[in-house]
Amino acid sequence: MTAHHIDGKALSQHVQDEIGKATALLKEAYGKTPTLTVVLVGEDPASQVYVRSKIKATEACGLHSLEHRLPASASEEMVKGLVRDLSQSDDVDGILVQLPLPDHISSHAVINAIAPEKDVDGLTEISAGRLALGKPGLHPCTPTGCVMLAKQALGELTGKHVVIIGRSILVGRPAAQLFLAENCTVTIAHSKTDDLPAVCRQADILVPAVGRPQFVQGDWIKPGATVIDVGINRIDAPEKGAGKTRLVGDVDFDSAQAVAGHITPVPGGVGPMTIACLMRNTLLAACARRGWQIPDPQNEPA
Ligand code: GUN
Repeated sequence: MTAHHIDGKALSQHVQDEIGKATALLKEAYGKTPTLTVVLVGEDPASQVYVRSKIKATEACGLHSLEHRLPASASEEMVKGLVRDLSQSDDVDGILVQLPLPDHISSHAVINAIAPEKDVDGLTEISAGRLALGKPGLHPCTPTGCVMLAKQALGELTGKHVVIIGRSILVGRPAAQLFLAENCTVTIAHSKTDDLPAVCRQADILVPAVGRPQFVQGDWIKPGATVIDVGINRIDAPEKGAGKTRLVGDVDFDSAQAVAGHITPVPGGVGPMTIACLMRNTLLAACARRGWQIPDPQNEPA
């Protein structure tokens, strides 16, 4: 068996196309465009790449993009002050503080300075609490993308056993809540789980989110299972030439695709969906805060 590859790039593009259409309709109806503000502190090279692709996608969807860059030496008070100002600004619909922050800054304190209605990353305590209680709100982007990819592969998810590897605030925990909301049975495995391969073999849907390159092996996967690989790890690639690198997931792709039914590639799987869901949250945040309805294009005069 060779697993069907779930095309995250194509699904992301589809979602972003729909957001672009909705943004144009909102501009016509209300004369305004939702604005996403990204805050980047320091010079972390991976964060700079992520922020660049988020800004590019924002502009491609026709949304407004604002960027605030602060030096790595910025104090926690400075970053919190900026986030509070953005939270109060009527011109800003979504605020994203790129993580990780420099070690001397509490990401918890900074994230919780974001007004919950502008929390497009879904990481404030209010957003996490709403998700845990099954209340409407803004949900974290990467886990939302994982659910969309699983639905793309399988359709209805009710009754599926999902095993998530990793209990992070950014991915593992919210992913568990979102799959639970789809009527899945959810197991959160982690670094202290006994006999992790055996737990993984129970999964209809396996979601590794541990940040360990090629960690999950093909013989950890139930034949025919769906694998949603959250990992994005850069490793040396001497086969491409001296000093070259390549991106791999948390899954050993070659052994996994021989067993799985569906699998997301890295790159081109979960990564693009994170960005699509960020665009979606920006649109949702703007509509909720401003009381906008997305006009139905079918009801527009020809
Ligand atoms: N750093 C890595 N992934 C993310 C993410 O989804 N949101 C934020 N804010 N920072 C990140």
